[in-house]
Amino acid sequence: TTVEWEAESYDMAGHDTYMHKEIAEQADAVDRVLRGRIDERFGTARLGGLNMDAREARSMRRVKILGCGSAYHAGLIGAQMIEELARIPADAEPASEFRYRNPVVEPDTLYVVASQSGETYDTLAAVQELKRKGAKVLGIVNVVGSAIAREADGGIYVHAGPEVCVVSTKCFTNTAVAFALLALHLGRIRDLSVADGKRIIEGLRKLPGQIAEILRHEDRIIELAKDFADAKSMMFVGRTRGFPVAKEASLKLKEVSYIHAEAYPSSELKHGPLALIEPAVPTVAIVPGDELLDKNRATLEEIKARQGRILAVAHEIQEKADATIVVPQNEPELDAVLMGIPLQLLAYHTALMLGRDIDKPRNLAKSVTVE
Ligand code: AGP
Repeated sequence: TTVEWEAESYDMAGHDTYMHKEIAEQADAVDRVLRGRIDERFGTARLGGLNMDAREARSMRRVKILGCGSAYHAGLIGAQMIEELARIPADAEPASEFRYRNPVVEPDTLYVVASQSGETYDTLAAVQELKRKGAKVLGIVNVVGSAIAREADGGIYVHAGPEVCVVSTKCFTNTAVAFALLALHLGRIRDLSVADGKRIIEGLRKLPGQIAEILRHEDRIIELAKDFADAKSMMFVGRTRGFPVAKEASLKLKEVSYIHAEAYPSSELKHGPLALIEPAVPTVAIVPGDELLDKNRATLEEIKARQGRILAVAHEIQEKADATIVVPQNEPELDAVLMGIPLQLLAYHTALMLGRDIDKPRNLAKSVTVE
C-alpha cells in the first residue's frame, strides 16, 4: 500500500492545487524549520533531537547521507554544505541502492537519512540494515512519529507541515535548510569560526524573505513556461553547488509535466551530452555568482555555439542566455536552497499548460512503502 494524505482534510487556502499551495508556503515553512534552532551567541545551531553530544559528533570522521528522489537531492545539497562547513568528507547516495551493494559500514561514519514521509520502504530498510550493523543514524524527516523517525537514533524534524502533493516542494526546501543547520552544528564543534557561524546564521535568517521575493515573480515564470512547454526534452546543468539544484529541477519537470529531462554536471557536457543540444532541447543552467561563475559562463557559450536555447537561473542577467531568472543572492553555502525555487514554478506552470494531473501525477505515489 502507499501512504496517501487524506487530501480532503487539508484546506486548499484558495489555491487550485496542493502543489501551488505548498510552493507558496515555503517562506513560512522555512521560518518553522529555523524556529528555536539558532544560537546567536555561539554562532551555531541548537539541535535538541540529535541524541549525540559534541564528543560523539566530533568522533565522526565522515557523513553518509541516504534518501530517495527529492530527499536524495536534498541530501546532495546537504553533503556539499557539510563538507564546506565542517570540513569532513560527506556524500549522498540513493537509499534504494545502498543496502544491495553490501556497503562497508564503519563506526566513525555518521549516517543521515532524509525522508518527507518517514515511511519510504527503501529508506527505512537502509536504516534497519545500518542499525543492524551498529551504525549511528540520524533522520531528517517531516512526519512526526513516522517509522524512520522512530527507527533512527535521533534527528531533525523539518516542520514543513502536511505535504499533500505527490511532487515534493516545501519539504525538499525545508530538508535542505535542516541540512544547513546540521552542517553549521557540525562545523562549529570543529573548526568553523564563530564569525563564519554568524555569517551562515545571517544567511539563514534571510531565506524566508528571499523566498517570498522569488515567488513574487511568478508571472515572469509563467511567460517562460510558455517557451518550454513544447520541448521534447530538456537539459538541466549545474556545477558543484548547482548540480543538485539541476537534478531536483529535472525531477520536478519530469514527474509533473511528463516531459523528459536530464540533469548533468556542466563540466561533463563536453564528454558526450553536448551531442543532444539543438533548438528543440532547451537547457536550464544554474549559474550562481560564486567562484565558478566564469566556468559556468563558458558552459553557456558551449551550448549557445550549438544553437541550444538557454534559460539561466542566476544572481544577475546572463548575456549568453536567451532568458535569465534572477534570484536574490545569499551566502555561497546556502544559495542552492533558493536557486531551485523558481524551477518548481516552471515545472508547475508547464504542467498546468499541458493539462496534467498536478497533485497526483500518473504512475506515482506520495510515499512508496513498497520496494
Ligand atoms: C518527490 O517529488 C517525489 N515525489 C519522490 O521522489 C519522493 O521524494 C521520494 O519518493 C522520497 O519520499 P520521502 O521523502 O517521503 O522518503
